[in-house]
Amino acid sequence: MSKKLKKSEFALLLIRWQRKYGRNDLPWQKSRDPYRRWIAEIMLQQTQVSTVIPYYLEFLKTFPTIEVLAQAEEDEVLALWAGLGYYTRARNLLKCAKEVVEKYHGQFPLQEEHLVKLPGIGFSTAGAILSAVTDKPHVILDGNVKRVLCRYLKVPVPLGESQSDHLLLREAREFLPETEGATYAQALMDLGATVCKRTNPTCLVCPISAGCKAFLGGEVEQYPAKRAKPKVSKEMLPIAICFQEQKVFLVRQEKRFWKGLWTLPVCEMPKNAKQLKPINHRLTHIELTIVPFLVSPSSIAGMEGRWFSRQELDTVAVPTPIKKLLLSLDER
Ligand code: ADE
Repeated sequence: MSKKLKKSEFALLLIRWQRKYGRNDLPWQKSRDPYRRWIAEIMLQQTQVSTVIPYYLEFLKTFPTIEVLAQAEEDEVLALWAGLGYYTRARNLLKCAKEVVEKYHGQFPLQEEHLVKLPGIGFSTAGAILSAVTDKPHVILDGNVKRVLCRYLKVPVPLGESQSDHLLLREAREFLPETEGATYAQALMDLGATVCKRTNPTCLVCPISAGCKAFLGGEVEQYPAKRAKPKVSKEMLPIAICFQEQKVFLVRQEKRFWKGLWTLPVCEMPKNAKQLKPINHRLTHIELTIVPFLVSPSSIAGMEGRWFSRQELDTVAVPTPIKKLLLSLDER
């Protein structure tokens, strides 16, 4: 069995590995522009690279600079975000753009303490942006990187608990190299995404397996330690579908989930309404059963909302299951 790796070797091996096997042609890697890296990192917070790429390209076509984005309406930003989910990210994106334009004349501050105060930028996202833009070493602790370190060090506490987060942060700081911050950060993210995967990790091609405590103990899949499952509640969502002259009636959701999105109105089903097949849809903590039914315009009288034609539906953000439902009705 190999000896444990020295801390300095850890970064060196990762950097060498990244150059040869890492991802080096992602669209946001073509530039060191903080604006582009920021958009990419926000999209990548809860979404996979392959899903993000087309959204990123389209977003930059519509909003090529932070000044253009800062002038946008929230609806426009949400519409481009539709399908990516976790819409708070899109709302914060607009707030952040306005703040950077007003407070920093459109130039992102490149100090961590300022960056983390901006809406939607946590400490790990700040680290990802700064390492990419400045090439200085910064700690990144997104889900993939946490898994790598957790296995390497055999951290016994489940991820997300403050005890493990503190420990990982301390260790991650110690592993930082002196230079080549951009390649090092990308190496950790790439290793987590392509080798040290949650299931079926490919330890035999891992550049740091010689020092990985979980690998050496034959327990890689036992780490990160499992967390107690979060409570999921069940909820019925009766929604009214009302068509008039080829247009559908939508309301803007103001609270709880789907905030800021345009959706079918939630209301009690009238006795004479025609019910359609229920749809199951999972949100982070809620198992929704959406119960759609058709109503006449008199049933929605007095509700605040707007009528949308089929084409207009593509210009605003509509929750994915609602959009699918409306498209399936179109096809009938
Ligand atoms: N996940 C989060 N940030 C990333 C990046 N810059 N490249 C690839 N995956 C990522």
